[in-house]
Amino acid sequence: MAFIVFEGLDGSGKSTLINRLSHILKERKIEHDLTREPGGTELGDKLRDLIIAKGPHAPRPRAELLMYEASRAQLVETWIKPKLEQGRWVISDRFAASSIAFQAAGRSIDEADVNWLNQFATFGLQPDLYILLDISVEESKRRRQKRQDTFGVEEDRIEAEKDDFHARVRDGFLKQAKANPQQWFILSAQLPTEQMLEHVLQKLKDRQWLK
Ligand code: TMP
Repeated sequence: MAFIVFEGLDGSGKSTLINRLSHILKERKIEHDLTREPGGTELGDKLRDLIIAKGPHAPRPRAELLMYEASRAQLVETWIKPKLEQGRWVISDRFAASSIAFQAAGRSIDEADVNWLNQFATFGLQPDLYILLDISVEESKRRRQKRQDTFGVEEDRIEAEKDDFHARVRDGFLKQAKANPQQWFILSAQLPTEQMLEHVLQKLKDRQWLK
C-alpha cells in the first residue's frame, strides 16, 4: 500500500503521467485508486467549481485557502483514509503541498498557518511520496496557451495569475522538495512522458513497492 501524490505547475503533465502509471499498476494487478484536489468527492467537486471560476465573486486568499482545505478534509476522511485502510494504493493529483506552494508562497499567506490548516484537514496524514513534475513558468505558460488554442480550454482563475505568482509557486514546490528529499522526488517535466514514467517506476522499485 502506498499513498503517492503528483505536484507541479499547471501544464506539467501530471494527469497524463498518472494515467500511464495507473495502466502499469493495473497490468501488475496492484489495487489502486486515483483522485485529485480540489475535488474527488461530491462536496469537493462543488468547491472546485466555486474556487476556480473567474468572476466578481471570486474568493479572497484566506477564503480560497479554507475552501481548498475543506475539499481536502472531506476527501481525506471519506475517501483516502478508507482506501488506505483497505490496503489499496491511492494516487492523487495534488494534495497539501499545493496549499503551501499556491496559498503560502503564491498568495503570501503565513506558511505556519497553512501548515496548521493542512494538519487539521488531513488528520496529519502524509503521502509516502510526493513526485514534483518541475517545469519553468515559461514552459507551463506555453503549454496552457497550446491547450487553449488546440482544445479551446480557457485558463481558470488560478492559471490566469501573473508570471510572478507562478514563479513563487514553483519556488514554493522546490523549497518543500529540497527540504525533505526522503519524501520528495523531483522530476523534470520537460522529459517525454515515457521517460518520466521509467523514473517513477524505478523510484517505486527503490522503495520496494514494486518488483
Ligand atoms: P488542477 O488544475 O491541478 O486540477 O488544480 C486546480 C487549481 O487549484 C490549480 O491551479 C492549482 C490550484 N490549487 C491551489 O491553489 N491550492 C491547492 O491547495 C490545490 C490542491 C490546488
